[in-house]
Amino acid sequence: MRATALHDTRPTTNTVNPTTAPVEDARETGVRATSAADGSGAMFDRIARRYDLLNRVLSLGIDRSWRRRAVQATGLRADSEAEVLDLATGTADLALELSEAFPRARVLGVDPSPRMLEIGRRKCAGEERIELVEGDAQALVAPDASFDAVTIAFGIRNVPDREAALREMARVTRPGGRVVVLELAEPRSGILGVPARFWVHHVVPRLGALLSGDREYRYLQTSIARFPSAEEFAATMNCCGLEVIDRVSLTFGAATLFVARPRDTKRVAAPPAAEESR
Ligand SMILES: C[S@@+](CC[C@H](N)C(=O)[O-])C[C@H]1O[C@@H](n2cnc3c(N)ncnc32)[C@H](O)[C@@H]1O
Repeated sequence: MRATALHDTRPTTNTVNPTTAPVEDARETGVRATSAADGSGAMFDRIARRYDLLNRVLSLGIDRSWRRRAVQATGLRADSEAEVLDLATGTADLALELSEAFPRARVLGVDPSPRMLEIGRRKCAGEERIELVEGDAQALVAPDASFDAVTIAFGIRNVPDREAALREMARVTRPGGRVVVLELAEPRSGILGVPARFWVHHVVPRLGALLSGDREYRYLQTSIARFPSAEEFAATMNCCGLEVIDRVSLTFGAATLFVARPRDTKRVAAPPAAEESR
């Protein structure tokens, strides 16, 4: 294992990792909204037990291939000894994909939901290169430039202050490293998007509520509809210390992969570049 700044900051006891600000601290700073149906850790605590099943069923299993695309987008070599930070790691599906793809890398997964993490830890049992800790993407206390890649899958939508989280991602990523954001989107208009839109608007909330017995799953539908367009979100990333270098629309626009690198903060920030839709 490499000795890095990350390892230096990891606790030796079973406490919250100082790489991230404890959730309570973040609450005190007023940057974190909390309610049971708002995408917060509290909401995910409530649906944690059924989360993986719901994910597989509601995405028809496609979520796995989207995560693999996110893993590839980190640009890391297969033999890389990289330090990777997976924010909003939840039940650790992306952390596991990263660890499998990069057998010499170390993955730190961060999420505010203890119950999601509990399930994630069970899935990661025996995976010494994966560590899961409680924390908030808006307030990381990891040293600057301490990760080779930072990922967040289906998580940024749930973060109340997205710009703060994006700035944190830019800050903790090493120069030349990548920030990869995978997020659900409103399926594109036109004939090709019809089945995807029907699925998202009519099937997902009903099936989700039925399977989970939890009205919170309706949150999925409204939060996707409220999420900015890919153009707008890429522009936001470009204003938060990141430079978007690729943007990929997946499965009729039902998800978008944003790939960025941290800007050289020593230079004056350039105005956000217009991104070509793909
Ligand atoms: C839809 S799940 C995604 C889990 C996982 N990344 C995956 O690919 O399945 C969204 C996660 O975002 C987490 N989350 C909510 N607010 C957050 C915040 N402020 N910082 C980090 N994660 C947050 C939730 O606890 C939840 O586990």
